[in-house]
Amino acid sequence: MAVEMHAGLASEGGSKLKMLLTFVDTLPNGSEKGIYYALDLGGTNFRVLRVQLGGQRSILETDVERQPIPQHLMTSTSEDLFDFIASSLKEFVEKEGDVSDTTLMRRRELGFTFSFPVKQTSVSTGILIKWTKGFGIEDTVGREVSECLEQAMARKGLNMRVAALVNDTVGTLALGHYHDPDTIAAVIIGTGTNACYLERTDAIIKCQGLLTTSGGMVVNMEWGNFWSSHLPRTSYDIELDADSPNPNDQGFEKMISGMYLGDIVRRVILRMSHEADIFGDALPKLSMPFILRTPLMAEMHEDDSPELTEVARILKDTLEIPDVPSKVRKLVVKVCDVVTRRAARLAAAGIVGILKKIGRDGSGGITGGRSRSDIKMKRTVVAIEGGLYTSYTMFREYLHEAMKEILGEEAAQHVTLMVTEDGSGVGAALLAATHSSDPVDNVQLL
Ligand code: BGC
Repeated sequence: MAVEMHAGLASEGGSKLKMLLTFVDTLPNGSEKGIYYALDLGGTNFRVLRVQLGGQRSILETDVERQPIPQHLMTSTSEDLFDFIASSLKEFVEKEGDVSDTTLMRRRELGFTFSFPVKQTSVSTGILIKWTKGFGIEDTVGREVSECLEQAMARKGLNMRVAALVNDTVGTLALGHYHDPDTIAAVIIGTGTNACYLERTDAIIKCQGLLTTSGGMVVNMEWGNFWSSHLPRTSYDIELDADSPNPNDQGFEKMISGMYLGDIVRRVILRMSHEADIFGDALPKLSMPFILRTPLMAEMHEDDSPELTEVARILKDTLEIPDVPSKVRKLVVKVCDVVTRRAARLAAAGIVGILKKIGRDGSGGITGGRSRSDIKMKRTVVAIEGGLYTSYTMFREYLHEAMKEILGEEAAQHVTLMVTEDGSGVGAALLAATHSSDPVDNVQLL
């Protein structure tokens, strides 16, 4: 990972890791005040937020509304998707009633979390490179994303300005850093997966002469697309990739994230049922892609009843396989375990790769003769979000276990993974405040 990070920073297209500039060189410092909005689009759910900031690192109030994205909008037209988002935002704003905050006397400002690969042209604008996670709206690719939203807001008669366009990892980092200035990276492990971190501008070779007031910039790695010849791929991974709407893309994501794990399990048990006839007769449901969603797989995996009754129920209700013998139920749990453990260990290796790149893995880089134990490791916080990590205990435990194993007990003590609830959205509102047209003092990053 660290090697590919170097390559992605050295030249455009130098690695499958895009290492995208975010133009975020200052993060919120706690002095921000006023009401800011955020839209969070990118996972299974879509969120609208209003955040009231009180200065002195205080978030006075957060209102969040979540709703699932209607499936048909994921592959419809740009206009349909952005009109839907703008309408939801308008309804949300209209519900706010009589808000007397003076910030509302001026134009409302919005942080837009758009969790897809975007080539940023400024902190508030950027062009969609490609869709991921099952979205596939051709006419948005290559377009300026904030403009699509602002045009839809204008169509709906909503007067708002996109003050920050951010990836979910960047929002998460902003909130993490707001609470704890030792936060230097953020990771999302949910429907999709990705990471961002603070890099020194002089290490971003592909952008020579890039000057920021802080000397640093947040880099969106787009690690979901990471690949290495050292990564062993099974026939299940190869088939899942070939059947996906984006073959040869997002290889790391397809081994790790919530969109895919359930389907890997389904493919394994389908093969077992063909080759060893473990379930008996014809199984039409088991042949349906994505019928076994990852939350159900997690429930089966974490079924601690002696008879594995949850496993039996899910196999019957979702896959229409009744009366599965106890021995076979155990086998299904084992498959879930193997698939999740691999995913969690890969994610852990990715996090350690970032720490290694920025010299926070305890290996000390060039030590000038000092032994590893002489080097005082800096406390390092990685903000983390996404349902797979927050809601799937076994996944989380495997990830922690692997981090300790790779870093070593001693170094691992200096690294904290910190969950930031709704960080991707709240963080975008914070960044809208930081980059508001009515700015407050900003903090230096590095
Ligand atoms: C996207 C990233 C995003 C990640 C997590 C990936 O599919 O490419 O931009 O950060 O999912 O939501």
